[in-house]
Amino acid sequence: MDKTLLMRKEDAYQLNTYKKFPLVLVKGKGMYVSDADGTRYLDFYGGHAVALTGHCHPKVIAALKKQLDKLLFYSNVAYSDIRAEAAEALISAAPGFGKVFFCNSGAEANEAAMRVAKKFTGKKGIIAMKGGFHGRTTGALSATGIGKYRTGELLSSVSFAEFGSIESVKSLLAPDTAAIILEPIQSMAGVNAAGKGYYKGLRELCDSKGIMLIFDEVQTGFGRTGKMFAAQAFGVAPDIITLAKGIASGVPMGAVLLREKVAKTIAYGELGSTFGGSPLACAGLKATIEVIADEKLVENAYAMGMYIKKTFSGMKGLVRVRGEGLLLGLEFGHDVSGIAAALLKENIIVSTSEAKNVLRLLPPLIIGKTHVDTLHRAMEKVLQDGH
Ligand SMILES: Cc1ncc(COP(=O)(O)O)c(C=O)c1O
Repeated sequence: MDKTLLMRKEDAYQLNTYKKFPLVLVKGKGMYVSDADGTRYLDFYGGHAVALTGHCHPKVIAALKKQLDKLLFYSNVAYSDIRAEAAEALISAAPGFGKVFFCNSGAEANEAAMRVAKKFTGKKGIIAMKGGFHGRTTGALSATGIGKYRTGELLSSVSFAEFGSIESVKSLLAPDTAAIILEPIQSMAGVNAAGKGYYKGLRELCDSKGIMLIFDEVQTGFGRTGKMFAAQAFGVAPDIITLAKGIASGVPMGAVLLREKVAKTIAYGELGSTFGGSPLACAGLKATIEVIADEKLVENAYAMGMYIKKTFSGMKGLVRVRGEGLLLGLEFGHDVSGIAAALLKENIIVSTSEAKNVLRLLPPLIIGKTHVDTLHRAMEKVLQDGH
């Protein structure tokens, strides 16, 4: 395979909206992906938090192949055996939630969530957080609080609070406020979490004012924080949770979890998506939930998060490790882009973030101690080399 030719071809024909790693990935297995030139990379990025069960988990692949041999697609105008099973598995794993709306991406899930909140409350104001990221469609982008993404025409009904400050949210409350939307841990912004009291305070505020609380768990969902949902890690019960990324281990899928009382306000035809809840995605979702339970991946995410924090503490130049479980930010006192580039040369993929001094780790939940040790050794080396 001529790697350079493939890269040139992709650049020639695909709209150039991404700065890419100089890799042409052709294979994946567990914690590793392989380049067209045969080099294997240890993946602490997971294709942007998508490879929850690792790359090509054999049980997920078997479930997908089985479904492909039976029925590739039919939409929601008919019932489906695998959709029924996947929906049941998801709702059973999400205590307190009664219904799910299936779609295809995180942005679509957030659009639907905000529409539901507006319908339920009969209001239209949204309070979102500075630094939050919710996707690229107009509604989701309007609620995104990172300036550089906010281009083009956006909704004026969204206002932005300081993440972590109840007072800031209170100052934005208006008679027309329908919902508060937030990433419980802001990933793109550089892995920002707030104290538990913040989330509880938001819940109380929403209860007292009849406002919907929406948690965007597109990144934190399914175990990443060491609990199945970050809402559980912070001890609060949002009205709506949005999911996407790794919930079907890499088959495109989004989902909106709704409490029964909220779900009741939505009538036939008010939400829809041709591909939402496709048989293939549902096979991926069901297998993902099963693998997470069978292999105790939520527990592993917690344990490995603690191990990473312990292993990296005291590292040269490291200020602290931010985040929970396997959504972690290694905060340095300087720009980390050189470290990320140097690690790639050591055959390890990590992520940067909007905070220039934070390296982000979003590895598959199957990660083990040896992988952490490998990253630690490589980091020691690149820091020694002056990065
Ligand atoms: C927290 C969060 N919400 C929403 C999205 C948007 O998801 P998608 O790209 O599937 O539309 C992302 C994507 O990075 C995300 O990180």
